[in-house]
Amino acid sequence: MTHPIRFSLNGEPLSAECRADMTVLEWLRDEALLRGTKEGCAEGDCGACTILLKRHDEEKYGPVNSCILLMGQVEGAQLTTVEGLAASGPDGHEVQRRMAENGSSQCGFCTPGIVSSLAGLLEINGDPTESDIHDALAGNLCRCTGYRPIVEAAFEAAKANIGGLPTGGGGEANTEVGIVESTCHAPTDLSELVSLKGQFPDATLLAGGTDLSLPVAHARERWSHTILTRNVSELRKINQNSEQLEVGGAVTWQELLPYLHQHWPSFATMVRRFGSTQIRTMGTIAGNLANASPIGDGAPALLALGASLTLAGTGGERDLPLDEFFIDYRKSALATGEVIKSIIIPMPKEHEQFRVYKISKRYDQDISTVCGAFNLTIAGDIVTDARIAYGGMAATPMRSKDAEAALVGKSINDETIASAKLAVRSTFKPMDDMRSSAQYRSTVAANLVDRVALDIAGETVEVMAL
Ligand SMILES: Cc1cc2nc3c(=O)[nH]c(=O)nc-3n(C[C@H](O)[C@H](O)[C@H](O)COP(=O)(O)OP(=O)(O)OC[C@H]3O[C@@H](n4cnc5c(N)ncnc54)[C@H](O)[C@@H]3O)c2cc1C
Ligand code: FES
Ligand code: FES
Repeated sequence: MTHPIRFSLNGEPLSAECRADMTVLEWLRDEALLRGTKEGCAEGDCGACTILLKRHDEEKYGPVNSCILLMGQVEGAQLTTVEGLAASGPDGHEVQRRMAENGSSQCGFCTPGIVSSLAGLLEINGDPTESDIHDALAGNLCRCTGYRPIVEAAFEAAKANIGGLPTGGGGEANTEVGIVESTCHAPTDLSELVSLKGQFPDATLLAGGTDLSLPVAHARERWSHTILTRNVSELRKINQNSEQLEVGGAVTWQELLPYLHQHWPSFATMVRRFGSTQIRTMGTIAGNLANASPIGDGAPALLALGASLTLAGTGGERDLPLDEFFIDYRKSALATGEVIKSIIIPMPKEHEQFRVYKISKRYDQDISTVCGAFNLTIAGDIVTDARIAYGGMAATPMRSKDAEAALVGKSINDETIASAKLAVRSTFKPMDDMRSSAQYRSTVAANLVDRVALDIAGETVEVMAL
């Protein structure tokens, strides 16, 4: 049966009869014939395809990569493309006008994506700093112009105090959309989600799709059944008390950021380098863990923080320490039919010092070569507890219990740092790959012990690209 996908595009309510696994970019360009939105990389990296998305339960638009956004994901949502921005004022959107006046565009291929990202920024922050503007542009590559005139255009548009983006349409989301060949189920409660997983064991369980949808965009992979986690109410919650922060299995990195700023600023600094705003607007914490990727950035930080998971399946719910979740290369302890209901992070305790460092070739929008996370409890000058975890060093994200043992019960001095560094080197036999040699990984992972020691002593500042 066909269930048209209903959404609004540039303020106009629409309904599309199409495959649920069609990319929004493909639909915009080939079906709606709106070709302002461009395709560059088709994998979420270049930002040429950026559009603005406001889902049925959101108050503000956020920028997303339409090349890896699927039509099934926009049921009930509002979309604004560069054409909608152009129609939002007599001379286009303020950002467009200022970009034109400032010579912020040359070949113009990146420009619709850049305009969309900046319009999205001004929607949530009318008085951005230069750093906010750089963050907003981290997922938009411009190969010709140089970013200075683009940043200036953003400042000028902000000062002009522009009005809002197109609104209208969208609304309630149906729980099943698409056509017979490709359907998307969007359950609204956990029991429904678990039962759909039982009913369609081969269906794709999709959260933000920032990992999963790449083969759809690139290799035309096709999905007959998709089950979306996004609308499951139990998975959308963030509960905080004095003991723990419970983060639902469909919460995005962008939604988590304010909590990280408040409780673990170093984690927040790292997450601002997690993909781009576009990626963080869609990508979830649960998706990052369920991948069981050795280079996912969430895992080392959450391992060091002592996080645990609540998993839900047909047999009920169970709690599992994150330590026991990663079994092998890209293999997790999730049983068939199980989903991550929530991620539980213990609140910081007295004397705890948490730091996480991402080492990548580029500062922004790059996957980690190594990611090291340290959670040290230091009473007086003695380390009374330590949890140290790395990504990029083994087949799974992993703690170095030897490095932890080298520090606990001791004060941090040259001798204990040297033995912790040796322990890090002996714990891991990292891989050689295109990102780096094994030797580089070992050296940099050990050197992060120096860095955390200096950092805790107040002797370092946040370092740009390493
Ligand atoms: C351009 C780009 C940049 C990126 N940068 C980074 C980066 O800097 N650091 C980094 O770590 N990653 C990065 N990623 C990878 C990706 O964005 C993250 O891993 C993200 O957190 C995945 O979340 P998602 O919601 O998009 O997962 P999806 O792609 O929707 O799903 C990923 C996997 O998780 C499963 N899953 C999702 N939710 C659940 C659940 N509740 N229960 C059980 N299984 C579930 C899915 O079935 C699938 O197997 C990047 C990706 C792109 C395209
Ligand atoms: S086309 Fe490059 S991010 Fe979408
Ligand atoms: S103007 Fe050519 S890529 Fe930006």
